Amino acid sequence: MNPSQTPLSTNSAQPQPSPLSQTTSGPNTLDIVNLRKVFGGRGKGGGVVAVNDVTFSIRRGEVLGLVGESGSGKSTIARLIARLYQPTSGEIRLNGEVVPHKLGGRGLRQLRRRVQMIFQDPYASLNPLHPVSYTLARPLKIHRLARGNTDPQVRVLLERVGLTPALTYAAKRPFELSGGQRQRVGIARALAAQPELILADEPTSALDVSIRLDVMNLMLDLKDQEGLSMLFITHDLAGARYMSDRVAVLYAGTLVEIGPAVQVIDQPQHPYTQLLKSAAPKPDAGLTPDHIEARGEVPDLSTLPPGCPFEPRCPYAMRECKDGLPRMYDVGGEHQARCLLHDPAIKARQAVAGYAP
Ligand SMILES: Nc1ncnc2c1ncn2[C@@H]1O[C@H](COP(=O)(O)OP(=O)(O)OP(=O)(O)O)[C@@H](O)[C@H]1O
Ligand code: SF4
Ligand SMILES: [Mg+2]
Repeated sequence: MNPSQTPLSTNSAQPQPSPLSQTTSGPNTLDIVNLRKVFGGRGKGGGVVAVNDVTFSIRRGEVLGLVGESGSGKSTIARLIARLYQPTSGEIRLNGEVVPHKLGGRGLRQLRRRVQMIFQDPYASLNPLHPVSYTLARPLKIHRLARGNTDPQVRVLLERVGLTPALTYAAKRPFELSGGQRQRVGIARALAAQPELILADEPTSALDVSIRLDVMNLMLDLKDQEGLSMLFITHDLAGARYMSDRVAVLYAGTLVEIGPAVQVIDQPQHPYTQLLKSAAPKPDAGLTPDHIEARGEVPDLSTLPPGCPFEPRCPYAMRECKDGLPRMYDVGGEHQARCLLHDPAIKARQAVAGYAP
């Protein structure tokens, strides 16, 4: 185990050195394996399958973009990792260490330090009654990362997120800040805990378009300078491409495509990702929209079809698509898609018939 880690299973309350400068060698920062979350229902029947046996990793110093329509399970995955929700089944590993299914108070506190969330609405996530200095000093005290006067560390945090002069911003209350400045405070608060992983749940979607890029650039700078590992959740494919090293695509709680950001966004290999791309706003109105027709609606997560979850909407659906959940197919490099169109036997059959979607 890396010496900068705090084991989840011990009762050590001692502060640990910042892990932010860890190298990219060693285990992944995060592995989730067959992670599943069912809300409501009993046993195997009923309930909303919000996360359906999802497996992916985030490497050290990597940003993994997580995209998908509303209700596809993005936030639920983040909340499972932060243990705001208890997984129904599956495994979560942080820097190679299994997060126990049952976590006591200390283990939970350690996890909440090591995994920090940045939320969509910075105003709602900041206490309106307290100045910025209080917001940033709190995690330092809770996680025992400061002794005595926290002002110098608060100043450094504000400088790291570009809120200078730091003394001025430390004294401000949330209502005195712009949306972008509030989100910078949210990022500083996450950094204060010296996390190993940041879960950013639509951190820019509540911001004016003009300042989204500033906040994304700040996060990228922090990633580059401090080797941060990050899950970046967004609806915005262009934002995911800009921010992420790799992108994972969720449909109805199921991982349907994953790979290098440029490949997944520019050359999507799953019909659902192609649909997302065709539906994305085109900044250049002169562009011809990519277009595929998709039928039907987002499925009811309590009665998912037994086969490919996208089958009811897929323009390429074949009889085999109803048989069972397709596996992930390698489609080049590290790029994978969960679609039978990439099955060698089906490709061969379509080639004979002279058909290629
Ligand atoms: N606490 C909960 N109790 C019951 N169902 C829930 C709960 N949280 C989420 N869900 C359901 O789980 C599914 C996935 O929700 P989730 O919030 O993870 O989606 P999302 O991809 O983050 O959507 P959005 O883009 O709108 O934020 C939805 O059907 C949602 O209604
Ligand atoms: S497996 Fe079948 S239904 Fe699912 S996306 Fe591929 S072609 Fe469409
Ligand atoms: Mg969400």
